[in-house]
Amino acid sequence: MMRIDDPLLIRTADMLRKARYPIAFTGAGVSVESGIPAFRGDGGIWEKYDPKTLYIDYFYASPKEAWEVIREIFYTFMGRCSPNRAHEVLAHMESEGMLKAIITQNIDNLHQQAGSREVVEFHGNSQRLCCTRCSLTRPASELTLETLPPLCECGGIFKPDFVFFGENIPEQAFQASVREVEQCDLLLIVGTSGEVAPASLIPSQARRNGADIIEINPSPSNYTATLTDVFLQGKAGEIFDHLDQLLFSDKKNMNE
Ligand code: OAD
Repeated sequence: MMRIDDPLLIRTADMLRKARYPIAFTGAGVSVESGIPAFRGDGGIWEKYDPKTLYIDYFYASPKEAWEVIREIFYTFMGRCSPNRAHEVLAHMESEGMLKAIITQNIDNLHQQAGSREVVEFHGNSQRLCCTRCSLTRPASELTLETLPPLCECGGIFKPDFVFFGENIPEQAFQASVREVEQCDLLLIVGTSGEVAPASLIPSQARRNGADIIEINPSPSNYTATLTDVFLQGKAGEIFDHLDQLLFSDKKNMNE
C-alpha cells in the first residue's frame, strides 16, 4: 500500500495544483471498492456471465433472455451500491476547482451520485431506459422490471440507455469527450484496463495534445508502460484518500 509521503503522491498533488485543465478518465476499477466487480480479470463480470448478453444483435433477437441477465448484473445488484472514497474525492476536487470534468466508461451513475457535475457518460447510464421503438426515455427506478422485457406504452421494448457491444458511442458524449480531451493538460486515468475502443483511445489523444498522464491502478494496464508519466499503484479509494489529504488538509486547518 502506498504511504501518504510517497514521492509519487507528492508529485501528483503538485501536478494537480499546477494544472490548468485537469480531467479524469475512469473505468470499472473506480467502482470496485463499492462492491461492483470489474469486467475483466479475477472475479470479473465476464468470468461469471457470457458477454454475448451485451451484444446488440443478441438483445434484439432474444430480449427476454438478454434482459434476465442484464437485470441481474446491472439492476438487482448494482442498483444497491453507493459511491466510495474515490468517487467522493473526485467530486470534492471538482467542487474545489481542481478537476474540470470526468469522462467515465462506467454506467453505474456513482460519480453523479457522489456529486460530480461535469460527467461525460461515454457508455451511457443504466439508470435510464430508452424505448427501442419511440425513443421515450424513463428512469429505471420507475419500472419494476418484474416482467421482462419491460415494455413502453407504445408497445416497444425498453433497452438500458447504455452502449452495447456493436453500438456506436452516443454522438453528444463523444463530442463532449473530444472537447474535454482537447482542453486538458493533465489526464488522471483511474481503474481502466484500456481494452475497449474507442474509449481506450482517449489517453493517447490527450497525450498527443501534450497532456501529462497520471494513472491509478493496482496492476499495470495497457497504458502504464507506453503513456503513463506517473503510475500510482494501488486501489483508487486508498490513493484518492491520500490525495484528498495532500490537496486539501492545509486548507481545512486554516479554516479551523
Ligand atoms: P476492466 O474490467 O477492463 O478493467 C478494470 C481495471 O480496473 C483493471 O485494470 C483493474 O486492474 C483495475 N482495478 C481493479 N480494482 C481496482 C481498484 N480498487 N482501484 C482502481 N483500479 C482497479 O474495465 P474497463 O476498463 O472499465 O463497456 O472496461 C471498459 C468497458 O468494457 C466497460 O465500460 C464496459 C466493458 O465491456 C460497457 O459497459 C459498454
